[in-house]
Amino acid sequence: MTPAQSMLRAATGLNLSKSVVERAIKNRMEQTEVADHDAYLQQMTPEELTALVELVVVPESWFYRDPQAFQAMTEFVRTRLAADSGRLVRILSIPCAGGEEPYTMAMVLTDAGIAPGNFMIDAFDISPTCVARAKSGIYGRNAFRAQDLSFRDLHFTSAGDGDYRVNDAIRKQVRFKQGNLLEFDLSTRTGHYDVIFCRNLLIYFDKPTTRAAIAKLEALLMDDGQLFAGYAEVPSFCQHGFSPLSYSQAFGLRKEAAAAAHKQATDKIAPPRAARPTRTVTSPPASAPNTLRARATPTLSPAARAAPATPGTPAASSAPAAAANLLAEARRLADLGDVKAAEAKCRDHLAQHAESAEAYFILGLLNELSNKPQMASEYWKRCIYLQPDHYEALCHLALLAEANNDAAGAAALKARAARIFKRQQAS
Ligand SMILES: C[S@@+](CC[C@H](N)C(=O)[O-])C[C@H]1O[C@@H](n2cnc3c(N)ncnc32)[C@H](O)[C@@H]1O
Repeated sequence: MTPAQSMLRAATGLNLSKSVVERAIKNRMEQTEVADHDAYLQQMTPEELTALVELVVVPESWFYRDPQAFQAMTEFVRTRLAADSGRLVRILSIPCAGGEEPYTMAMVLTDAGIAPGNFMIDAFDISPTCVARAKSGIYGRNAFRAQDLSFRDLHFTSAGDGDYRVNDAIRKQVRFKQGNLLEFDLSTRTGHYDVIFCRNLLIYFDKPTTRAAIAKLEALLMDDGQLFAGYAEVPSFCQHGFSPLSYSQAFGLRKEAAAAAHKQATDKIAPPRAARPTRTVTSPPASAPNTLRARATPTLSPAARAAPATPGTPAASSAPAAAANLLAEARRLADLGDVKAAEAKCRDHLAQHAESAEAYFILGLLNELSNKPQMASEYWKRCIYLQPDHYEALCHLALLAEANNDAAGAAALKARAARIFKRQQAS
């Protein structure tokens, strides 16, 4: 990893490729009229770092993105208020990008008849530009990608030039602030939130950063609260203390301890034969084989899936172990940012196992890292052709489809990934 990559990772947690970082630096060097690369890095100020961060974040969002999560959240808020109608339900949206997600929450809750005094939404994003856009509440066409746009007639006013401004009644339900999840101050907010939305952020983190981010979120969430993640992020939460909820396509989770307490309570009430878990999906048990646990991790990681056999064990010399070693080595090299060497390992592996879905999957990741999305897509398609239930490849293809504004394609891929995830967890 280059010093510039490390600096940006320390500032944001983002797992950024060298080319993305260098492009951003080149852009800022032009803007600030600094000709020398090293001089630019040496003169770095907090303000300049903020400007650089703006160029590497992905502030992609739109109103009613993955709408089932908002329905599930509304159901949960209703349950909270049924138990105590006078309470304030506290909701967190992090990262909120340009405000599309928290404003959608406010619109959905308002439409469900929840009184303004019964809920408050805090919304954070690391990018000051995003937060400023969110506060302005003005949006162009790109934010309105949902098929049903009736919400726009209800909650927006035309701002001219094809733009729309969120109405004040919705705006005052959301408090925006700039903030980095990884540096979140827990002193006043431990166990503070009934509901947290943290969607489409962990996909940009490596494994240790994902773990740190989940620990923050766990601390922020009430013990009996609910958290909504991006569909490709559910497995990471399951590996770090959360259990999936049974909402369909909402990607909701709760703390594992809460799930266990709930089960204990229902077991007490119901006779043993009738006692059933209230969720349809479970997290991978600690004893699950490495293949399953690693399959559930949609990031480039030194995957346990193809972990090398312990040195000196007889298995290390067997053909399957050698093949697994090549893939493990490919992942390790990829994590170090050595794309070329990692690619070479994959190709060596394919020379012996032409139909290895896993090798094609890793090649897809490597091409994504090198900013070649078209090639990445080809490799992932090859991967799911060879192994139709490859969860991670489906997730990555769905993200690519979303980035290409192919909402229908993304939805179909997500639905397929969700079915596979449930099936794998159930088995
Ligand atoms: C793809 S958007 C997701 C927005 C929204 N949650 C959604 O799903 O539509 C990712 C956002 O994460 C923000 N971000 C990146 N690193 C962050 C961090 N460490 N803490 C808070 N926000 C971060 C970026 O600025 C960007 O706006």
